[in-house]
Amino acid sequence: MEQRHILVAVTGGIAAYKAPELVRAFVKAGHAVRCVMTRAAAEFVSPMALQTVSGQPVRRELFDAAEEGGIDHIALADWADLVVVAPATAHTIARLAGGLADELVTTLALATRAPLLIAPAMNVNMWRHPATAANVATLTGRGVHWVGPDAGELACGWEGEGRMSDPARIAERAESLLGARDLTGVRLLVTAGGTREPVDAVRYLGNRSSGKMGYAVARQAARRGAEVVLVTGPSGLATPDGVRRVDVGTALEMRDAVLAEFAAADVVVKAAAVADFRPAAASELKIRKEDLADGAGLSLELVRNPDILAEICRDKGKRVVVGFAAESHDVIATARSKIARKGCDLLVANDVSNADSGFDVDHNTVSFVWPAGDVESLPPLSKDEVAGHLLDRVTKLLGDRE
Ligand code: CTP
Repeated sequence: MEQRHILVAVTGGIAAYKAPELVRAFVKAGHAVRCVMTRAAAEFVSPMALQTVSGQPVRRELFDAAEEGGIDHIALADWADLVVVAPATAHTIARLAGGLADELVTTLALATRAPLLIAPAMNVNMWRHPATAANVATLTGRGVHWVGPDAGELACGWEGEGRMSDPARIAERAESLLGARDLTGVRLLVTAGGTREPVDAVRYLGNRSSGKMGYAVARQAARRGAEVVLVTGPSGLATPDGVRRVDVGTALEMRDAVLAEFAAADVVVKAAAVADFRPAAASELKIRKEDLADGAGLSLELVRNPDILAEICRDKGKRVVVGFAAESHDVIATARSKIARKGCDLLVANDVSNADSGFDVDHNTVSFVWPAGDVESLPPLSKDEVAGHLLDRVTKLLGDRE
């Protein structure tokens, strides 16, 4: 398993005595762990125990010169791939919800860009209190992940929800949040967005593609460890972390960029909406109405653009090539004939006539169409989730080729 960086933040509840067991589980799974703790936590578990199991000094203070000299708190927040707060007291949850930054644990939670997993532990009445419930809802709304609390006998003598989940369960949840790194070492080329074919100095023929689907594939592939190149038509979307981006305008530019990157790629995902036609000659100057006869219309002669997907499929060797097909009708039948015609390994078909799916929305309802004609239809999912399913299929295809 690949080593990931886990920051374990221990706060002051009796369940803190289980924190070393959690740290040990992470270390045994091959991860690098650093621990921080609040002052109250040190009443329940010794910093030396955490230092021994993690093999690293334990930080407790935000502004201790010696501790900051080792690794400063912002560097520590950046270092983490995942932050686990275990146990998290009602007080810490309230402070996290409030966005406070007056001690080390909450400051790290604010400064990090890594996902946050919280394992609450407290008295059942504190857990059920509306104040805690509101804080949990606030944090959930910000994308925080939770494990537990479990129900059972509590250290305070009460019965009910409030026990910190078992370290093994927390570790399992952490593992699923860290995600598979099953594309490590794989070079993946993704195309995204629509191309623009110039008509004159100010106009172009374009399409409604936003690029969101291709960017989601690039983002998820990078998260799973792939080396990703994103060849993109004009798009206002931010470049996903860790992705190399190549900007293009026209279909011909996209073809050049794809062919330049193709040799080094193991996988090609062609999510771009490439214009099939371009004006035969783009006017260098703006076409003005007064240059035309009074009331006359304008005819544009269009010529065919090369089919980039078909071209790379002819020469694909051991590469896995995935195409997309955005259709407004006869979706599956068209996709079946398209995959046969283009020769790719998988075609992702979607129905763009549905307003909740397809262009410029965050969700997509797709079917995977395979070369033999079999079809897997997925439920409506976010584009990131669709990208995850797509990459699962790619991983399988790569495995079959070894
Ligand atoms: N594609 C391509 N080059 C083109 C046109 C399309 O590489 N000139 C790729 C797209 O990136 C997509 C797939 O082919 O992965 C299908 O695109 P689509 O526009 O649906 O297919 P076309 O072959 O253009 O078929 P048609 O427009 O006739 O449905």
